Amino acid sequence: MQLQAARSDALTGTVRVPGDKSISHRSLMFAALAVGQSRIEGLLEGEDVLATAHALQRLGVEIARTGAGAWTVHGVGVGGLAEPACVLDMGNAGTGARLMMGLLAGHPFTSIMTGDGSLRSRPMARVMNPLTQMGASFVGRSGNRLPAAITGRRDLLPLSYVSPVASAQVKSAILLAGLHAPGITSVTEPLASRDHTERMLAHMGATVETEPHGEDGLVVRITGRPELRPASFQVPADPSSAAFPVAAAAATPGSRVLVEAVCVNPLRIGLFTTLEEMGAKITRQNQRDVGGETVADLLVEGGPLQGVDVPAGRAPSMIDEYPVLSVVAALACGTTRMRGLAELRVKESDRLATMAEGLAACGAKVEIEGDDLIVHGTGGTALAGGVTINARLDHRIAMSFLVLGGLAQEPVGVEGAEAIFTSFPGFVQLMNGLGAKITEELA
Ligand code: S3P
Repeated sequence: MQLQAARSDALTGTVRVPGDKSISHRSLMFAALAVGQSRIEGLLEGEDVLATAHALQRLGVEIARTGAGAWTVHGVGVGGLAEPACVLDMGNAGTGARLMMGLLAGHPFTSIMTGDGSLRSRPMARVMNPLTQMGASFVGRSGNRLPAAITGRRDLLPLSYVSPVASAQVKSAILLAGLHAPGITSVTEPLASRDHTERMLAHMGATVETEPHGEDGLVVRITGRPELRPASFQVPADPSSAAFPVAAAAATPGSRVLVEAVCVNPLRIGLFTTLEEMGAKITRQNQRDVGGETVADLLVEGGPLQGVDVPAGRAPSMIDEYPVLSVVAALACGTTRMRGLAELRVKESDRLATMAEGLAACGAKVEIEGDDLIVHGTGGTALAGGVTINARLDHRIAMSFLVLGGLAQEPVGVEGAEAIFTSFPGFVQLMNGLGAKITEELA
């Protein structure tokens, strides 16, 4: 599918973006480990999460959709999954694949996992290595890539793992395997990554302890073999999806957009903090608790933005938001330096290269220096645009360049825009409802 975004005027209106992808994957998986029936409301019905639901069904879990975003899951208990009769296809989802490996590590059978062209190119050693230390075994393609066979075992060993990367996927895979091992499994991470696994498992009755480590790091300890209680999950709106209307409105003078009920977990809001530092006006309204997460309505008013220096330590709290931040940085006054982005190279695409190349093609001045992305803003002058960007199987690249098209002189096309369905069904309608001009182009 090829979409095209043309320059738009100020964006106005009130919107609600779909459920959080991280919490949606987790609510399905964790509900599968409980004893009894859990209910989920507000589930993101994007392709990534549906791939997780299908994989769990193949592992013997009864899952039913009872309405829009409403699902029930009949949990089989920790260690209760059954050998799948066919390949588990995790689609585009790194979270689905890696967390599922943690679950499968604790089961004494072999599963074969694959994914789309993007997922099959992503590094899996980061979870395979610690899970191997716990007793699971893996046979993957060269470079430990999918497709891979995973053979778990019932008597996993607990592990104290010091992770070289701040990754919630790595942390969660190990904690999930730890649920299947006797005693305490711990993960130490260099910077705190999103903590939905810890919050949700604790809510279901697991013993989870967290302690600061060094300056910005964290140790998480989980006690294995709990009986998890079923839960009623309410999935809040995804801040990583809210990022698109928020950033587009912030960068379009005269805009006034309210994005409702966004999850404002402190470990997810680095983009909003950065936009505020750039001079954007983002007001939090009606802050409240929804299912153990803080949510708020975000009122965004557009205006001129200033370039800023984004510290490397902020990366885990906005890891998926750099593509759209780099788009608005291209229009800011002065230079934005985004530091410490090595992890962007192993996302759904190499986002450092994809953004730098695409922004340059649209007329922006961009440099990569080591792991830093440097964008020299135009000071508000629209970028030239007038090009077509390939999304490279990456939903956030597709949406970022459609935001850019709204701010450019000539329309910007995005080839492979169907990637958007992985995380943000309804993106085009939502953005057009605010005043964006996104249309489908017949190839
Ligand atoms: C996610 C963690 C992040 C993020 C991904 C979702 C999660 O990946 O990029 O979209 O749900 O745990 P890493 O933890 O590998 O950085």
